[in-house]
Amino acid sequence: MAYNVPKLKEFSPAALDKAVEKLLSALDTESAAVANGKEYKAFRDRWLARKDGILTQINELWLKAAPKDAKREVGQRVNLIKGRSEQTVKVVEDRLVAEVSNALDGSDTVGSVDISLPGIRRTIGAEHPIIRTMNEIITVFRNLGYSVAEGPVIETDYYNFEALNFPSNHPARDTQDTLFLANQESKPPRERLLLRTHTSPVQIRTMEKLKPPLRILIPGKVHRNDPPDASHSPMFHQVEGLAVDTNITFGDLKGTLDHAMKALFGSDVKTSFRPSYFPFTEPSAEMFVSCFICGGSGKRGTDPCRPCKQTGWIEILGCGMVDPNVFEFVKQNGYDPEKVSGFAFGMGVDRMAMLRYGVDDLQLFFQGDVRVLEQFG
Ligand code: PHE
Repeated sequence: MAYNVPKLKEFSPAALDKAVEKLLSALDTESAAVANGKEYKAFRDRWLARKDGILTQINELWLKAAPKDAKREVGQRVNLIKGRSEQTVKVVEDRLVAEVSNALDGSDTVGSVDISLPGIRRTIGAEHPIIRTMNEIITVFRNLGYSVAEGPVIETDYYNFEALNFPSNHPARDTQDTLFLANQESKPPRERLLLRTHTSPVQIRTMEKLKPPLRILIPGKVHRNDPPDASHSPMFHQVEGLAVDTNITFGDLKGTLDHAMKALFGSDVKTSFRPSYFPFTEPSAEMFVSCFICGGSGKRGTDPCRPCKQTGWIEILGCGMVDPNVFEFVKQNGYDPEKVSGFAFGMGVDRMAMLRYGVDDLQLFFQGDVRVLEQFG
């Protein structure tokens, strides 16, 4: 017959001990009978469940019902029972675990555990397509002798604009759609904090720390006040490059970037440089690669090629020769514009990842939907 918690008529120590003995012997018998996981759960809940478990019942029927002068004696015993039943539940659990693991070592089934069933598949994480693309770009430039540097995402106006030769109130600042941190009106303008709009401020930070010659690659997050859509996001990624030495020419810039694009997109791609403007490079250019989706024809079969908007060319990055005015800001660390020259470039990683993996909506990279991400595993 299953054990039931009795109401107590007597609360003398002897009567209490007798009741306790009965209860503990029921605990021992029941625990010994547990043979599988399902029974274990029923056993555990019967004794420990907050709602109506045996422990809860003895609290109600024994402790609360006890006359004042017996409370102490009852309380001690209730505590003992509590300790014993929790311990017993743990012992049963350990026994079942040991049985299952022994069964796995041998070849039998135990209780309701069918060891011939396949195991639980653990999903393995995958590198995010944007990080993967960044790492591929880094590998190409590492092989050319570049090292990697990083800088803060929250930047000062000085590094993001001033030291990059953006004069204050210059309209070029507007093209960057800057997100400023709030409540900084009391600070001098150059110390005001903003979310960096490009990785170019790390050019200055790096030149302040390291003397020329320099070959450095700078991956990172940047922000602009662009509402999100299929090809825009207020947060995106860039990889910046900077090379400074004596006698660096525009030919070095072209040769380096042409090599890198062939390494990234295949040896068939062609590069094209078109004049552009950035305050921190002079001359400046935008570099295009021939569309590796349509092979430069602008068509896919009879359909127009969307990634290159039928032009056969895809804009990949901005670049140029470091403006001597930029070197002026780090002149005291060995960057005398009379002696050194250099080139810099900055590319958008997100669009490159979209092109590489045929993703047509940028937002898919940032929504964290495993159905998208697991395709890159
Ligand atoms: N920082 C520029 C941008 O975000 C790109 C660039 C980097 C241009 C380095 C020239 C040199 O648009």
